[in-house]
Amino acid sequence: MNDYLENLNDEQLKAVKRIDGPTLVLAGAGTGKTTTIVSRVFHLIENGVKPENILLMTFTNKASHEILQRISAKLNVNIKPPFIGTFHKFGHFFLTKHFHLLKNRTKHFRIVEANEIKNIIIKIIENDGFAINLGVEEAIKRISHLKNANIQSFETDKVDITNKDIQIVFKVYREYDKVLLERNLIDLDDLQILTYKLLKEFPDLRAEYSQQFQYIMIDEFQDTNVVQYETVKLLLKPETNNIFVVGDDDQSIYGWRGAEIENILNFDEAFPNVQIITLNRNYRSTSQIISASNHLISKNVFRREKNIIANNGAGESIELKTFADDMQEAEFVVSKIQHLISNKIAPPSEIAILYRVNALSFHIENALKSKQIQYSIKGTKTTYTKPEVQEVIKYLNVLIDPDNNNFFFTILEQTQGIGEQSINIVLEESLDRNISLYETLKTMNLKYFFKTRSRYFTILVEKIDQFFQDLKPDLTNLAEVFEDIFEIKEKYRKKLLKMQSANKSTELMKTKLENIDAFYILMNRFFKEKQGTIDTFINLYSINEDDRKEDKIDRKISLVSIHLSKGLEFKHVFVIGLNHGFLPSYNNADSEEERRLAYVAFTRAKEHLYLTSTNFRTLYGKRQEVMLSQYLYEANLLSRKFEPERDTKNIKKKEESRAFNIGNRVEHMKFGCGIIIDIDSGGKQTFLTIEFQDGKIKKIISRVIKKR
Ligand SMILES: Nc1ncnc2c1ncn2[C@@H]1O[C@H](COP(=O)(O)OP(=O)(O)OP(=O)(O)O)[C@@H](O)[C@H]1O
Ligand SMILES: [Mg+2]
Repeated sequence: MNDYLENLNDEQLKAVKRIDGPTLVLAGAGTGKTTTIVSRVFHLIENGVKPENILLMTFTNKASHEILQRISAKLNVNIKPPFIGTFHKFGHFFLTKHFHLLKNRTKHFRIVEANEIKNIIIKIIENDGFAINLGVEEAIKRISHLKNANIQSFETDKVDITNKDIQIVFKVYREYDKVLLERNLIDLDDLQILTYKLLKEFPDLRAEYSQQFQYIMIDEFQDTNVVQYETVKLLLKPETNNIFVVGDDDQSIYGWRGAEIENILNFDEAFPNVQIITLNRNYRSTSQIISASNHLISKNVFRREKNIIANNGAGESIELKTFADDMQEAEFVVSKIQHLISNKIAPPSEIAILYRVNALSFHIENALKSKQIQYSIKGTKTTYTKPEVQEVIKYLNVLIDPDNNNFFFTILEQTQGIGEQSINIVLEESLDRNISLYETLKTMNLKYFFKTRSRYFTILVEKIDQFFQDLKPDLTNLAEVFEDIFEIKEKYRKKLLKMQSANKSTELMKTKLENIDAFYILMNRFFKEKQGTIDTFINLYSINEDDRKEDKIDRKISLVSIHLSKGLEFKHVFVIGLNHGFLPSYNNADSEEERRLAYVAFTRAKEHLYLTSTNFRTLYGKRQEVMLSQYLYEANLLSRKFEPERDTKNIKKKEESRAFNIGNRVEHMKFGCGIIIDIDSGGKQTFLTIEFQDGKIKKIISRVIKKR
């Protein structure tokens, strides 16, 4: 197991070997942060720390899955592995155990689905006649934002609510939470907020968990939001403060989802005895790629200075190309990729096309299809997210825990003969009696409530019971037993026959059957090879399946939005759409977060980086002339000074939103929060005089100040 230390450099080793006390590894892209965090897990275990005392938070399920696999492979099978997962996963794990402690809640909660949220909000707006200018989607986004900032619906004092929109958002927020409470529902943000709340309110729980998780680690720390960070602080044992975080302020790209770059920038203030370790050696990219990326990111003001050195050679120049329009751009990218693959210069798995705006993948996809190049798109559905496969997964979930209302509810919805009204009756009964839906069905007088329809419920309960009888303890033929009892494939086969006899097109139905078959094969292999329990199997194939590596992925190139490309690396990276309005996008053209997105994109490349732009682009059916992205100049790849064509309407809006007034609450990366007491906009730049919380008064250039 010792080999995990072999290739590490001195700084990485220093981080890995620091066992106790708060530690921040703050380092640029590709310097081995994730490598370090994984090696530290091994090191802790090797030094006597029990795996179950380790909590490792990652940003995506894919990342946690890969880390868990690497670690499990080295651990004795009888040892419980560390808890490795996203904050959402941790929240779910925690709430499943302690939800009943919340006031007016009963144990068996359910996670509300996205379209259900929309319907709830629409009803609230209609019923209460709120004059809402924002639109439903925007209201949902704002509520989520407040939740992520750990602001509850009654805490109006935490924000400046003089703005009328915000007042309405709070009203809708209150009503929305009321509905969730009445129905014993929670949303994804609540997974985190309610976890925080319980830990805050129950010192015993806090003590129990901080005793269990004595070593807490967070990857991609720059993208944690307020609730997540506060939750982790509650989990920490105050005497030891064993928190180990790795991150890069230059890669903080989820501000719109409530991530607080300040968490990383102010970490040393929160933990005065922190050891900060910086990693400067980039092992991923050539020096040409690093140099351009460094130039680009140095244009940001809100950051810690870094000096990243490329460990690898200079490599080849970054290839810059400008085309007449999107079609030509796509043709170039695709023919280049064809060349790389057919000449075996790079396998498809080492090639990626990145874009800021999802709509840009359209022409690329068409061109790839015409050349029959296989690709996978992150964020869209692969086999495992197909509804028919998810249906199987939902049943499996019910089988490992029939009392989990989330899955049981969806199964009820999908069961033939059971309608919304019947489900509501069961729901009410279960809330009244404070037991799970499954338990309710087993114990309620079904005939009395449903008369002839009761048999549909009875059959379902009998099937679940039969499954337990037939299967345990042998899992090797799980797929057969499962299909025999629940007949999912059979259901689709019947549909197929019906369509055939009605002379309808059957392609889609055939694909569904193939998908289920493929999944059953996978399931059989998993259990024949004794790779784990049903629980591990579900974890492998349920959430965010697009994030997972499939067997076939080696034959596919990747199309990834920059937001989802974090942490990944490829030999050949094509970043398309380097035009003003696309990267940076129109909405955020002058924000530092946009530049960080470009930085993330550039630094995914190991050997070759291709940057493409066009003179015209068609977006949503409209052809328009576009300017080159300012980032090409800022990265020192072009020498001409850049003046983007100003979209006056947008800029005005931006300026309005940025405008400062005396009395505004503001924040500075280093000095913290304060209030503006004077504004000097006489010269080219605006300077703000701010009184900070500690009483100090400073005059600071406005562009480094954030409004609160
Ligand atoms: N000491 C080392 N020697 C050789 N290769 C290394 C070393 N450390 C890391 N690497 C390699 O460098 C690459 C980048 O490492 P890693 O993904 O851990 O970086 P990171 O800092 O997490 O990157 P990102 O900022 O993109 O998340 C990987 O291919 C990894 O295997
Ligand atoms: Mg990483």
